Amino acid sequence: MCRATGGTVGFVPTMGALHEGHISLIEASKKENHFTLGSIFVNPTQFNNKEDLAKYPRTEVEDTEMLRKAGCDAVFIPYVSEIYPEKPYHIPEIDLNGMDEVMEGAFRPGHFKGVLQVVYILLKIVEPDVLYLGQKDFQQQAILRLLLDQQFPQIRMNTVPTYRSESGLALSSRNRRLTEEQKVQALAIYKTLLEIKSQLPSNNVSEILTQSKENLENTGLKPEYISIADQKTLSILDKVTENDRVAICIAAFAGEIRLIDNMLWPED
Ligand code: PAF
Repeated sequence: MCRATGGTVGFVPTMGALHEGHISLIEASKKENHFTLGSIFVNPTQFNNKEDLAKYPRTEVEDTEMLRKAGCDAVFIPYVSEIYPEKPYHIPEIDLNGMDEVMEGAFRPGHFKGVLQVVYILLKIVEPDVLYLGQKDFQQQAILRLLLDQQFPQIRMNTVPTYRSESGLALSSRNRRLTEEQKVQALAIYKTLLEIKSQLPSNNVSEILTQSKENLENTGLKPEYISIADQKTLSILDKVTENDRVAICIAAFAGEIRLIDNMLWPED
């Protein structure tokens, strides 16, 4: 009906356990489209750790209520067998130029293959006009941009800024598993990103990152990586000039909860 009258469809794919960050994507879509569709699907193929998949929060009833309140027009909650039927979808090879081998890709082998697979299938089913993703998963949105360029040039991508709590903590479904103490610890990630940003441009990125790693460790967090990457190619940089546009990216554990965050430089 919406399509028949020339309306556009905005699509917000999620894995549920929704928070204000997801709702900001719904709001962005509602502003720009006639119809907004959300999806909830905890995609097994993007978890490289079985325990992480088992512990992923599943809150479908609360999620659908949040979507309704936000004015989302419909929600697609597929069964695993719909996304991964016996006769599987053919997923074309996407040329990623090594963008899946750094940062998240280096520490979560197979993760982006699973993300590309599920998003390809969802886009084939939903056929939206605009895909909404969060900047918090910076590498994911950069990689999915290549998926759109190479397979779905008719679909536009809108990356929505990271939604933060008043104290600066990036909202994430995983935050539900943090203790109060870990929530305070996790703020060091935000502060570290700001500190790094304030030191750019720089000829000596490795010195800045070594210091930042130490600062994070001193708060009790266990950093997995702190990297500065070119926003488009995700090449890891060891020096940042005035002309660069970069993403400062951090992954760190608070206890057993793995958190990621990023900031863009010069703009966020
Ligand atoms: O960002 C997420 O929640 C997931 O990676 C996505 C894009 C919904 C694919 O499962």
